[in-house]
Amino acid sequence: MNILSSNDLSKDQINKIFEIADNLKENKEETAIKENSILSLLFEKPSTRTRLSFEAAMAQLGGKSVYIDAQTTHLSRGESVGDTSRVLSSYSDFIAARMYSQDDLIELAECSSVPVINALTDLEHPTQALVDMYTIKAHKKNLHNIRIAFVGDIASNTANSLMITASKLSANMVLIGPNGYLPNSTYFNKAREYGNVEVTASIEDGMDNVDVIYTDTFVSMGQEKIAEERRKLFAGYQVDQHMVDMANSDAIVMHCLPAHRGEEISADVIDGPKSVVWEQAKNKMLIAKAILLYLSIDR
Ligand code: CP
Ligand code: NVA
Repeated sequence: MNILSSNDLSKDQINKIFEIADNLKENKEETAIKENSILSLLFEKPSTRTRLSFEAAMAQLGGKSVYIDAQTTHLSRGESVGDTSRVLSSYSDFIAARMYSQDDLIELAECSSVPVINALTDLEHPTQALVDMYTIKAHKKNLHNIRIAFVGDIASNTANSLMITASKLSANMVLIGPNGYLPNSTYFNKAREYGNVEVTASIEDGMDNVDVIYTDTFVSMGQEKIAEERRKLFAGYQVDQHMVDMANSDAIVMHCLPAHRGEEISADVIDGPKSVVWEQAKNKMLIAKAILLYLSIDR
């Protein structure tokens, strides 16, 4: 099995991963990973959390990881993704890949003899969405009918994956972004098949009855050349105290990180009492372990 997209995981599979994570927290989970398993991390883009959380997870499970900066491989000289995958998978038990193109990731998985995990592409960030919903569950207990507001770049990889995973788990989502800036229609339509997802440009309307406020950078990796244009586009959509005050009094604030204080989120909010971003980041290692164990059981 691969986790290439948030669409790849059913509600039952997501809940199983959460159950493994809960058991790990309570030291109830047998670490079923094969001794000396190798996780290859093939990354075309930078990463702090995803890379290190998977490396730490693998080490704690008794496996090993190998980090490969794609630029240092023959991918940078034209060797195909498929050939790279055939070779890499012959040395590995799992591959986690961070790539620009979702199609390249799919090709990597098609040519791999071992499970492939999407560690972020331009289109998706499925492991992050698992972390996010697991973190929300810890605060809101019942995910059914809670309301999550995604503010700012509502067409980002993080938004795409979160709207699929959240709606599969019966949480409601409202995407709040500038007038005329729309979510990715494929993910939006898919998410609406599973649950209730709305779009609005109005912060006042969107923030009504909100339990979770979520944001992501305005300038994703690969968009550096259009950074100024994007900062202007999203300027009115900073998660600040005024916005937080419009949500429910027990609302939590989340960010996948890295954060840009003063851009998509104000410093007082990300560093304030409603922010759960450090817990969210910490959960990445727990969910990485749960994913690796789940994929080991599933094989
Ligand atoms: N949230 C997240 O994926 O962070 P990194 O880019 O540091 O991995
Ligand atoms: N949308 C962001 C997420 C970073 C984890 C990016 O792609 O850069």
